[in-house]
Amino acid sequence: MNLFEKQSCEFITRHIGPDEQQAKQMLKTIGEPHLESLVNKTVPPAIRMDHELDLPQAMSEHQYLLHIKEVSMQNKVFKTYIGQGYYDTITPSVILRNVFENPGWYTQYTPYQAEISQGRLESLLNFQTMVSDLTALPIANASLLDEATAAAEAMTMFFNTLNKQDHISHPKFFVDNEVFPQTKDVLYTRAKPIGIEIVTGDYRKAKIDSTFFGAIVQYPNDKGSIEDYRGFIKDVHTAGAFVVMATDLLALTLLTPPGELGADCAVGSAQRFGVPLGYGGPHAAFFAAKDDFKRSLPGRIIGVSVDANNNRALRMALQTREQHIKREKATSNICTAQALLANMAAMYAVFHGPDGLKNIAKRVAVLMQTVAQAIEELGFEVLSNNYFDTITVTVDDIAPIRDKALRQQINLRYIDDKHISIALDETTLTEDLYDLINCFENDKNPVAFDIHSDDEPEHIPGNLSRTSPFLTHPVFNTHRSESQMMRYIKMLENKDLSLNTSMITLGSCTMKLNAASEMMPLSWAHWSKIHPFAPADQTKGYQQVVDELSNYLCEITALDACSLQPNSGAQGEYAGLLAIRDYHEANNDHHRNVMLIPISAHGTNPASAVMAGMKVVVVKALENGYIDVEDLKAKANDHSSDLAGIMITYPSTYGVYEETVKEITDIIHQHGGQVYMDGANMNAQVGLTAPGLIGADVCHLNLHKTFSIPHGGGGPGMGPICVKKHLAPYLPGHPSMVSRLLSGGQSSTGPSGAVSAAPYGSASILLISYAYIRMLGNVGVRNATEYAILNANYMRARLQGQFEILYTNHNGQCAHEFIVDLRPFKKSAEIEAEDVAKRLMDYGFHAPTMSFPVPGTIMIEPTESEDKSELDRFCDALLSIRQEIRDIEEGKMDRKNNPLKNAPHTQQSVVSSDWNRPYTREQAAFPMYYVTQNKFWPSVARVNNTYGDRNLICTCEPIESYLEAEA
Ligand SMILES: Cc1ncc(COP(=O)(O)O)c(C=O)c1O
Repeated sequence: MNLFEKQSCEFITRHIGPDEQQAKQMLKTIGEPHLESLVNKTVPPAIRMDHELDLPQAMSEHQYLLHIKEVSMQNKVFKTYIGQGYYDTITPSVILRNVFENPGWYTQYTPYQAEISQGRLESLLNFQTMVSDLTALPIANASLLDEATAAAEAMTMFFNTLNKQDHISHPKFFVDNEVFPQTKDVLYTRAKPIGIEIVTGDYRKAKIDSTFFGAIVQYPNDKGSIEDYRGFIKDVHTAGAFVVMATDLLALTLLTPPGELGADCAVGSAQRFGVPLGYGGPHAAFFAAKDDFKRSLPGRIIGVSVDANNNRALRMALQTREQHIKREKATSNICTAQALLANMAAMYAVFHGPDGLKNIAKRVAVLMQTVAQAIEELGFEVLSNNYFDTITVTVDDIAPIRDKALRQQINLRYIDDKHISIALDETTLTEDLYDLINCFENDKNPVAFDIHSDDEPEHIPGNLSRTSPFLTHPVFNTHRSESQMMRYIKMLENKDLSLNTSMITLGSCTMKLNAASEMMPLSWAHWSKIHPFAPADQTKGYQQVVDELSNYLCEITALDACSLQPNSGAQGEYAGLLAIRDYHEANNDHHRNVMLIPISAHGTNPASAVMAGMKVVVVKALENGYIDVEDLKAKANDHSSDLAGIMITYPSTYGVYEETVKEITDIIHQHGGQVYMDGANMNAQVGLTAPGLIGADVCHLNLHKTFSIPHGGGGPGMGPICVKKHLAPYLPGHPSMVSRLLSGGQSSTGPSGAVSAAPYGSASILLISYAYIRMLGNVGVRNATEYAILNANYMRARLQGQFEILYTNHNGQCAHEFIVDLRPFKKSAEIEAEDVAKRLMDYGFHAPTMSFPVPGTIMIEPTESEDKSELDRFCDALLSIRQEIRDIEEGKMDRKNNPLKNAPHTQQSVVSSDWNRPYTREQAAFPMYYVTQNKFWPSVARVNNTYGDRNLICTCEPIESYLEAEA
């Protein structure tokens, strides 16, 4: 390699952990002469890719940052007053730097291991408290994907409450005309497959009878008007149905909250609480409901419980609702949500407090009324007299106003030929009003306006003005100075184990490096300050990334078309299944609704299939983890005439490349079905094989796994889908794309309904995956796969003999992950998988994936980003734990009172003067030398899950409860 080649390939060596020397040693342990032979013995030859990927060559980090800066300049940052659920916002720098740009926050995993996740659990509890307070509804979840999908979740929650399977007596859902268009679109998409009939109309004239199960209204509505829905809500309740209000958190600081108006549920986006626009996301949606719905709420809920020492401890509550346990009977398919963004929004509320938020809201309202008065003075009609931050103006002709606005680099929302909406936000300055009002002036008679610091909002109707207090908890009333805020954020960060502490070996989750150069551009204004509905000629930088990334993903998957709209893996599944469904319908195969799903599938698969209106038929697995082909054949035969397809994961969730995969996809095709591939395990495919080569018709990619988007403590994520040509017409569309297509713009998507609120989902994080592919290049992305296989097989080889490794191929190799069986220790030492997981915390590690897909096991996925020393540290820790188990087996250690059963050990318990355990404090907290050099202390002892579910508390408790706990 010459000097200059070395420069451009520099990132590969930063991203991939082992260097040449280490790789050699690792191969020796595995017993393979070189990487190529290992890969050849691992990936079945029948499905191997026989060509190099047609992707650009690698760029160095420096080159990439110059490149992406240049691309960003094609996006134009206009002053944007479009609104429609997206508002410019000021991310407080202390939050930007210490949360958004901090790997201590963004590289965390979903807080399944509660003892080492108390920081983000606390912050998510703040989020729930904030949402619950502002909406005046008692139960809130820890975020959903976006406002539109949150509205759809409310719709299905109501539907499932009133309609039992096969007995649909209330099929109709009312949607007020003035709900945001993107929300309507997603509601339509979600309603159709499960037999919900959407009825739109004016809520004031709607006749809701017992055929309706629910209704949605927007508050303030799409045109900015604040409506009093009390009478409507009463009528809906009289008909036995439920109401969800889509609403705005900032407005609710001034408005009577939905709970006080009688609403059953409230949804919306927390974006304007400090989360950048980012061309549509990622942002946290919120979801709050009456107590009656707590067991059917979608998404993750954080709850308060106690630990083994009876101290307060947080953890995820009521998990039995969720897809990973309930599968096709789950309340929703939500897995990844928007935790990082929920944390940012919660921090924004912590930093500003109730008075600060109210102040921002009042200022926005006063500026809006100033603009409205000036525009009225100019002779225009403002549609409603009751508004907060948005007005809609009737004009004779939008053209001259639009021309003038564009000349001043201003975006307004042009609803139709005669209506313009203007939405203000916290970034609006008094000076901005001159330019804004000027768009409506003829320049000869400019209007003067006057604003006073003690002006009050005058257009919030008295009977809808908020009187109830909110955010009264001390956490929202303490951290006003930057010093205190910075320390609060740090204090929480210190409680959480992230990738900046140690490797996180979560099988199926691919916790790889989220490189700084991949992340940095997200903070740049030319990416972060773009509204998702900005005109196409202002978003050319985004369009370039969208087009290039779509092409790269098609090349990598060997498929033909791509939609970047789904904003999580599960959303990708749903979008892909809809494509299959629409395809069958277009072929007059309306009856094809059976989806075969292997027993080992991730819970989101069956949950998504049900959402797409399909029936799930489970296919068995063989002892070696392969799909039972005989069972598959029988089931495909039985359902031949109504077979919609199969959902498979490849390599399977058992971590093996099944040699039979092609036979499986052939069988499905022979019966007229389509093959859906769950691409969660693409990290074992890229450059070596591809879904298209294996026989998939459609596949989703978890960009937050293989393509380096960080997990953010439970989101954001992106789940684009790639499809073969015949499914391309059925990819998700979006209302904003239709107008773009009509105006001659480029779009790679077809006319089907939207699955997300924004056309490209959480568009700004696409940059991370784009960076990943550009900096690794055509060779680097394949190398990443090869090293992922090397690292997994090295760990497997080191652990084999001491632990039983489940499911390897006929050469004894695993793919990019492997399963360690811990079930034998239950009998030999009364040790369960959970004990091993908790003990790993004392060694400074996050547990691997627990009990998925096989109960009583752990699934280890090291990824390519870890070097040999880190892999060794983890193996040493597990082997040391094995020795501890052996001590129990041999009677040297008590079966009940031992370091595993008592794990994790907190600092408090180890320094306590009444230490009376049959092992030393050193053994408890510093079981290996390396731990003394970088000790991570779990902040609570083992959390009691059942206590928390039995005594459900999902908001910050009154301060007295902390005092009681201390007493
Ligand atoms: C195999 C598999 N499929 C689907 C998903 C769902 O993806 P997401 O969490 O992005 O919705 C996961 C998530 O862990 C997974 O492991």
